[in-house]
Amino acid sequence: MIDVRNINAFYGGSHVLHDIDINIPTRARVAVIGRNGAGKSTLLKSIMNAGPRTEGDIRWEGASISRLPAYKRARLGIQLVPEDRRIYQHLTVVENILMSSSATVTGRTPLDISEMVARFPMIGPILERRGGQISGGQQQMVAIARAIACRPRALLLDEPTEGLAPAIVEKLADDVRAVAEREDMALLLCEQNIWFAKKTTDRVYVMDAGRIAFSGSWAEFDAQPEIKQRHLAV
Ligand SMILES: Nc1ncnc2c1ncn2[C@@H]1O[C@H](COP(=O)(O)OP(=O)(O)OP(=O)(O)O)[C@@H](O)[C@H]1O
Ligand SMILES: [Mg+2]
Repeated sequence: MIDVRNINAFYGGSHVLHDIDINIPTRARVAVIGRNGAGKSTLLKSIMNAGPRTEGDIRWEGASISRLPAYKRARLGIQLVPEDRRIYQHLTVVENILMSSSATVTGRTPLDISEMVARFPMIGPILERRGGQISGGQQQMVAIARAIACRPRALLLDEPTEGLAPAIVEKLADDVRAVAEREDMALLLCEQNIWFAKKTTDRVYVMDAGRIAFSGSWAEFDAQPEIKQRHLAV
């Protein structure tokens, strides 16, 4: 579904991603893990065309999308939930979710609020609260709900567990997995929380200093403890 071929990414003169190849088959759930500064967010932004300058080819369903602006990639079916969540502080939760409907995937109907609450019960009681008046965990849930409302076929999730309490992380893992299955959606997750990544995905790429250092199943990852030692230990 998404095929990242030999991507190099740059911020000005700074070369951040080096020759990255990543393949995400239809409905697959894939994690990218790596230390701070490894290049995880840059990879997701490159796929969305939301920041870095990118060389190489990004394919969607076999066709190159490398020249498309971010909003056109969204209409094809890609949604990014960025690290900083970008919840509008002065709008209510409902308004935050409805605001995104212009990015709904071509040919699909946006989900209405009752359908969103059915998928994310945590947002039910806070629908009329303003973005600036909800907790970090609730903001993360709203950011994911807002992306899902557009009916994406691939969801790019950037460190959803950052700053969340362990009990919320567990709940979020269940909801993310369930919604990916229910929506027939591929998931590309960047995480430092390996527990969460294992719980929500089937395959893993390890990124180190802007390069892919490992790819395989979680069983293969677990069978090679030196990968963790070399590329993830601080
Ligand atoms: N807007 C920017 N301008 C210049 N350099 C940047 C910019 N954003 C990130 N970088 C640099 O690019 C490299 C990769 O950053 P990136 O944000 O992709 O890492 P990350 O793996 O997402 O890290 P973290 O786990 O801390 O979120 C880092 O060296 C970072 O300092
Ligand atoms: Mg990041």
